[in-house]
Amino acid sequence: VTMNCVIEGYSVKALGKAIHALSRIGNELWLDPMVKGLALRSVNSSHSAYGCFLFSPMFFQQYSLESASKQSSDTIKCKLVMKSVLPLFRCLTSIERSVERCHMSVSTATDRVIIQFFCRHGIIKTHNIHFQESEALQAVFDSHLCPNVLKAPARLLTDMVVHFPLFQEEITLSITPMKVTLRNYQQGGKGPMKTTFTEMSLHPNEFDYFQMGLDSDITFCLKELRGMLSFAESRSLPVSVYLNAAGKPVCFSVEDMVLEATVLLATVTNSDSRDHSQPTEPPTPKTPREHTVIAKL
Ligand SMILES: *[C@@H]1O[C@H](CO)[C@@H](O)[C@H](O)[C@H]1NC(C)=O
Repeated sequence: VTMNCVIEGYSVKALGKAIHALSRIGNELWLDPMVKGLALRSVNSSHSAYGCFLFSPMFFQQYSLESASKQSSDTIKCKLVMKSVLPLFRCLTSIERSVERCHMSVSTATDRVIIQFFCRHGIIKTHNIHFQESEALQAVFDSHLCPNVLKAPARLLTDMVVHFPLFQEEITLSITPMKVTLRNYQQGGKGPMKTTFTEMSLHPNEFDYFQMGLDSDITFCLKELRGMLSFAESRSLPVSVYLNAAGKPVCFSVEDMVLEATVLLATVTNSDSRDHSQPTEPPTPKTPREHTVIAKL
C-alpha cells in the first residue's frame, strides 16, 4: 500500500496545527491513509483521551492511494513516535512564511513516511521517518446518544478558556436550561489557586445551537481541549460539544468542507451531588477519576 499526497503552502499550517493538537493528547501519532482521506490520530497512555483529524482528499492538491491487491480493503495503519514528527512542524509561522508545498508519502514496502517541504529559494527539506505497523486505533463513542449538544464559534470558547491559568489542569462545564457555566476545579488546591476560583457563565442563547436533555456537570482536562480550540480558531470554525452525565466522555468536534476533527475526553466520575447555590465556594473534591476507556486498538 502506498499513499502520496501534495499539500499546498497555505494548508500545511492546518496539518501542523492538527499535529500540535494531537501532541497534547498522546506520545504516538497514527497515520491512517484511507479512501475518504488521511486520518491522523492519537490516544493517551490510559486510552482515556483520543483525537482524530481527518483530511478529505479535497484538502490536498493531490491525493492518491494505491493498494497492491485491488480486492483487499486493508489500509496502512502506521504508528509514529510523536517526537519524530512534531519538530518538523514546531514553528508554524516559519512554515507559513517559507513552505510553498509539502509532499507526503507513506509506504508499507519500506515502513517509511517521507515528508518533503519545498521552500522558498528552491530549498527542499526531506524527512524520512520510520513507522511501526499497528492495529487501527478506534474511538468507542456515539455522539448521537448524547443528550446534550452545544455549538459555538471557537472564538467564544477560547475567550472563556483564556481566563484560566495555563497550569490549570481541569475545568468543569455545567449546563442547565438557563445557564452554561465553565469554572475551574482545584483538587485539594495548591499554590495561589487554592484561593482563586473563576466561574464564567453564559445564557444558552449565546450558542449557535443548544440541545439539552439532561442537566450535566462534567470535569475534564483542559490541556487537550486547548489544542483543539486553537485548531478550530485558526480556521474560524464552530465547535460542537457533545456531553452527557459526569463520568461519561465528552466530545468536541469541528468540521468543514475538507476536514473533520474530534477530541474525546474521559470526565471525572462524580458521585457526590454538589450544591450549586454557592458558586463562589470552591467545589468539594470529587471521587478519583475512573479511567474510562474511550479508544481501543
Ligand atoms: C488521559 O486523558 C484523560 C482525559 O483527559 C486524563 O484524565 C488522564 O489523566 C490521561 N492519562 C494520562 C496517562 O495521561
